[in-house]
Amino acid sequence: MTTETISIDPAIQKFLSGGAKKIYLGGKWVDSKTGKTFKALNPATGETLAEVCEAGKEDVEAAVSAAREQFENGPWSRMNPAERAKILWRIGDLLEKHADELAALETLNNGKPVKEARSADLPMTIENFRYWSGWCTKITGETIPTTTPYAPKAKFFSYTTKEAVGVVAAIIPWNMPLQMASWKLAPALACGCVVILKPAEQTPLSALRLAELMEEAGLPPGTVQVLPGFGPTAGAALAAHPGVDKISFTGSTETGREILRASAGSNLKRVSLELGGKSPHIIFADADLEMASRHAYMGVFYNQGQICCAGSRIYVERPAYEELTSKLADRAKKVRLGPGLDPKTQMGPLVSSEHRARVESYVEAGKKEGAKLLAGGDRPAGKGFFLNPAVFTDVKDDMKIAREEIFGPVAAVMPFDSVDEVLKRANRSDYGLAAGVWTKDIKKAFNAVNALRAGLVWVNTFNLADPTLPWGGYKQSGWGRETGAEAIKLYTETKTVWVDLN
Ligand code: NAI
Ligand code: MG
Repeated sequence: MTTETISIDPAIQKFLSGGAKKIYLGGKWVDSKTGKTFKALNPATGETLAEVCEAGKEDVEAAVSAAREQFENGPWSRMNPAERAKILWRIGDLLEKHADELAALETLNNGKPVKEARSADLPMTIENFRYWSGWCTKITGETIPTTTPYAPKAKFFSYTTKEAVGVVAAIIPWNMPLQMASWKLAPALACGCVVILKPAEQTPLSALRLAELMEEAGLPPGTVQVLPGFGPTAGAALAAHPGVDKISFTGSTETGREILRASAGSNLKRVSLELGGKSPHIIFADADLEMASRHAYMGVFYNQGQICCAGSRIYVERPAYEELTSKLADRAKKVRLGPGLDPKTQMGPLVSSEHRARVESYVEAGKKEGAKLLAGGDRPAGKGFFLNPAVFTDVKDDMKIAREEIFGPVAAVMPFDSVDEVLKRANRSDYGLAAGVWTKDIKKAFNAVNALRAGLVWVNTFNLADPTLPWGGYKQSGWGRETGAEAIKLYTETKTVWVDLN
């Protein structure tokens, strides 16, 4: 571990100083009605970065009534789409202008290596706003000829329109805070919705800074509100509120279920869910094993393994098994852990001490169930919530570490002998978010793509995402597709119109 002291950007120092961070409600920065604050920590040290006002049920009440007023009377919901497009583009520009500062802030609060925040999280966040800026003027319905079999001679003009779904509550996780905020804010705003954003309690800071920049970009006050707070209080109040038309959620499958129940028990609000995964990463012996091992490594350990699409079940065809497992373990043993702000850091800490304890419980379960630990799984010396990345081999499909989402740096590697066998095993999961296949045989690759029950399949690569492409899962990995044009469905209602021409 590196231990150098790291200097913090003056813009961030300014942002973090000056008392508890306020909530952003109805276009104003205010104290929360709970009167409580909570701590945003630096997971590399365990130290407090800032106190943050904690939004509770009463703040949710106030935010929802402000949002309803905004949605019903504008300005955002009534604004000319071309004007909306300009504002979303300006948000992208401001994010770009402040990209270094935002990447550092994201790293301070989440722990991820700053070079990853700067090269992936920020460009993706910026591009999301630009991509959706383009959509503002292109969200259209269709004209559809009718058949009216009960009145064959009748004439009608029939068409559809796409209208904003209304007040959206976006509840996001802590693993990629800015990117997840943009996945929800940008399409919802492009569709004319107003949004209440609840960042995760572990990582509220970048969402608050984003709100400042949105204000500066000219987003009308109240269009987006930011309520930092906890899941069972602020989150649950949003999910149960009849004034919220739609919840867009990313997080655990368990919380996804609670949100669905809350929606069913209130107003049957629209719900989209981007949930967990236990993605299979299948490596055939004819693959480029050097590249495959690198991608297998990044597939499971990127972002400290805290990623919904993590390729955490690595299936390797038996002739390549020894070589691949040793390559993976060697790489894991050599990784340079350290504070994310240190440019030499390759892997940062986990997001919180609770989360590290949870991940460690899986390492213990793996050992207890008889998997072989080739590397890591222990804590390095020093402060912060670090964990050495763990590589387990000889894992069996029914072991806990092969079935459950760990959301941390724990790889489960398993051998296989035939195509049919591995595809069946890969699909035997409650989840269906992503999958990867490595082979030089084109037929084998495409047959695997067709057989895999997953919302995303990568061939001879892994972990790619793009603002233009849909993202989401089969089975218990969620409902709906985010990013790409498919997301328009999440933030609009379709209106069918008949005009009599007889
Ligand atoms: P979580 O799913 O409980 O939290 C995600 C977001 O949901 C946070 O903003 C949280 O405040 C909110 N939330 C929690 N309970 C809520 C409720 N009852 N109603 C409304 N909102 C609620 O995830 P958590 O507890 O942080 O992590 C637990 C495990 O979940 C992780 O170890 C990991 O396995 C999984 N997870 C998966 C993610 C993914 O993207 N697939 C993201 C985060 C966590
Ligand atoms: Mg939870």
